[in-house]
Amino acid sequence: MKMNVLTYGIILLLAIFSGNLHAATQVDELRCELLVNPQGIDVQQPRLSWKITSGERAVVQTGYHVLVASTIENLNNNIGDLWDSGHTASSNSISVYYAGKGLGSGTEAYWKVKIYSNKGESAWSAPASWSMGLLHYKDWAGRWIGFDDYQQTDDKTSGQLSARYFRKEFALRKPVKKATAYIMGLGLYELYLNGRKVGDQVLAPSPTDYTKNIKYNVLDLTPLVKEGAHAIGVILGNGRFYAMRQAKPYKVKSFGFPKLQMQVKVTYTDGTTELFKTDDSWKGTTEGPITANNEYDGESYDARKEMPGWATVGFDDKAWLKAEYVQEPGGNYEAQLNANMKVMQDIPPVSVTKKAANKYIVDFGQNFSGWVKMRVRGKQGTEVKLRFAESLTADGELFTTNLRDAKATDLYILKGGEQEEWEPRFTYHGFRYVEVDGYPGNLQAADIVGRFVYDEMANIGTFHSSNALLNQIHQNAWWGIASNYKGIPVDCPQRNERQPWLGDRPTSAYGESFLFDNTVLYSKWLEDIRLSQKEDGAIPDVAPAFWRYYSDNISWPGTYLFIADMLYQQTGDIRVLETHYPAMKKWMEYMRLRYTDKDGIITKDSYGDWCFPPASIEEGRGKIADKKYPSALISSAFYYHLLHTMQRFSVLTDNAKDSVIYADQALQLRKDFNTRFYNAQGYYGANTLTDNLLAMYFNLVDDENRQQLAARIVDIVEKENKGHLSTGVIGTQFIMRTLTEMGRADLAYGIATKNTYPSWGYMIENGATTIWELWNGNTAHPKMNSQNHVMMLGDLLVWYYENLAGIKTETNAFETIHMNPSFISGLTHVDASYQSLRGEISSSWTMDKRQMLWKIRIPANSKARVFIPASAPTAITEGGKKLGQIEGVRYVETQKDKVLLEVGSGEYEFKIKR
Ligand code: BGC
Repeated sequence: MKMNVLTYGIILLLAIFSGNLHAATQVDELRCELLVNPQGIDVQQPRLSWKITSGERAVVQTGYHVLVASTIENLNNNIGDLWDSGHTASSNSISVYYAGKGLGSGTEAYWKVKIYSNKGESAWSAPASWSMGLLHYKDWAGRWIGFDDYQQTDDKTSGQLSARYFRKEFALRKPVKKATAYIMGLGLYELYLNGRKVGDQVLAPSPTDYTKNIKYNVLDLTPLVKEGAHAIGVILGNGRFYAMRQAKPYKVKSFGFPKLQMQVKVTYTDGTTELFKTDDSWKGTTEGPITANNEYDGESYDARKEMPGWATVGFDDKAWLKAEYVQEPGGNYEAQLNANMKVMQDIPPVSVTKKAANKYIVDFGQNFSGWVKMRVRGKQGTEVKLRFAESLTADGELFTTNLRDAKATDLYILKGGEQEEWEPRFTYHGFRYVEVDGYPGNLQAADIVGRFVYDEMANIGTFHSSNALLNQIHQNAWWGIASNYKGIPVDCPQRNERQPWLGDRPTSAYGESFLFDNTVLYSKWLEDIRLSQKEDGAIPDVAPAFWRYYSDNISWPGTYLFIADMLYQQTGDIRVLETHYPAMKKWMEYMRLRYTDKDGIITKDSYGDWCFPPASIEEGRGKIADKKYPSALISSAFYYHLLHTMQRFSVLTDNAKDSVIYADQALQLRKDFNTRFYNAQGYYGANTLTDNLLAMYFNLVDDENRQQLAARIVDIVEKENKGHLSTGVIGTQFIMRTLTEMGRADLAYGIATKNTYPSWGYMIENGATTIWELWNGNTAHPKMNSQNHVMMLGDLLVWYYENLAGIKTETNAFETIHMNPSFISGLTHVDASYQSLRGEISSSWTMDKRQMLWKIRIPANSKARVFIPASAPTAITEGGKKLGQIEGVRYVETQKDKVLLEVGSGEYEFKIKR
């Protein structure tokens, strides 16, 4: 005991000596503008965030000191020549607005922070940096180059062009300090310097409507250059620029032929700079080995046409053409803040089956998106054809009907001789199986590997429970969500669609946010949606509007507001609300004025409860599932909810005068809704589960009818559905939370753990390794039957994290955490974690007959309201001690069957006698 006191004394002394009262409090992770990779920011006032870690409990930031310097040397000397915030009293540790000197194009900024807290002052954090992009149109010195017409090598009918290759040599006359490339390579580019690929991004840049905005990438070339001669090479693929289908120009937007604008800024050690840029001194060809490419149909590569050294100095490009000056795409140039795609994981095959001579089927054991890399050795001119599919037919062949007319076929033609290794660049497939046809020799598992490609994004959530099926669904969801991140959230990665459908994401994006650090991607998508808005206010069902679907409904375009709300809730991003408020307001008005009927009902819906399950698996057999059942109940209920959302947004964005208007409209709509849709028998609309859930979840039901409605909902689930759901894309978004809020988490748990039709478990029971588009995906008509859609996740993942684990924000992006898990009989253990912007939150509970053990972790500068299932505080201990004098823990009150504690940051271990 004595020893302990002594040791503590020494630590304290040292701490005082070094100027830190509690050296354990430190600033961990710095983020700039909520960024993953802050190279090239074009936001004039970036926002800075930091995470604080501490061995202490109940740490609260009381102030910060930010230094931003133009050089790392200045920063190391504590000179904030760009911004020195001084000691600023504030508890804010996320999204602190940079308030220093104006930052010009290309400026580099190095920064660090120290914080002051109730437990003392931290040391300076490790430094981080960001750089500014090209802020002005005129900063782009080069011209757009390309070939603005079909070339001899192009197949005009297939939707697959041959890749465009461009090259240029340049000399650096002095020793180099820094070199940065700014590139807009459309649709997709690969950049080479002296024969080496620059960066590990693939399928870059992220797709946009190029007539509205174009994303440029900023790449650091410094480690790759020195004084002397250099060669740049760029390959351009179609991407979304040259549309994959050209036949329906009225529906599918095409932007023209691939094109490039780039520049390299070189700073020499003597401080002078030089700019190299695209112009017609560049040479280009379409005679390279990539003879055809697009996203749906695949890539063809003729290795005999390789041009060794084409991107190195001294290559003979006499036969190449002079690059043409081409029309500029029209959109504004914007730094790409969201991460590019990358090969995120290699997936080895689980089996290779020989089907015939030179023909194999490879099974990767998992549905995912990307491509394969293959090793092969054989005679020149040998053709190896790779075809992709999500599943097999009964006789073991590829099942490709659900791809519709996407060919999903790669072709490799051998150059012959040595072993060759190949993977495509400008396509991706959604698949678990690949058929390899024409392979010379014996294909071994080691010769082929799956390449899982999606937006580079951190995993930020973990979930594990005592129920194996819940865990398996979480895993399937993870694979499905990742597969569909393609610089935009797409509906599916396999068939001839892959579109950013709004209606698939309103709530599933929220669930996804617990698993992936997807805030920047979704912020980008909100921009895509805003830019797709028509002058009169209309928002499409697909944005960017690569497909022209301005069908005017509430539930698909309404996703615009749902996503903004999700970003605000989870990350406190107020700027997102400020930016989008005017466009959201315009759309709300547009819809109200056009589609309110004489009784005040918002009538316009397009899809109804899309893809709800047929009453039985047999009833849905062979049937096409894309029949639309528009429902004015759905559009009105959603609109009501969105009015409330706007009401909140208006207050948050200093548009408080609007809030009264939205509140009034909501009140009126609530009345009209009940007049039209409430049935005195105690249900809504057609008495479907979805109709009733919407009225309950959106609080449309009058107080005196609530009990009866709750009873109806329970009845439908328990009696009519025998514990199953009967909801499509609309109802499934609210089912788990509604039941839980009604006090029937047990029913929600029953739904989540079913393995009979219709359920997530049923999909898994029938071989799904992701999530299907349809509840009856195994029997429905194959035409519309993706095996990798995320929309049916509804609010399931939200429920996992918020309601099973108790990781839910209560105020200001997890500054106060609401920890109130549902403890459900049959579920004995849940263990989850989530990396919030403030740091890691975790919750792990185990329940048995005698006691419950609950470990939680609250990040510094946050606190939690913890609802402990106990009848009195005396039943609870923390770290072995009775409640009372425990640091960080404050008893608030005893409720019906829970004790509410307020808990500061730190780790806690509660034991509860039962
Ligand atoms: C897409 C869906 C989308 C729907 C709307 C489907 O083909 O795959 O995810 O929301 O169309 O019509």
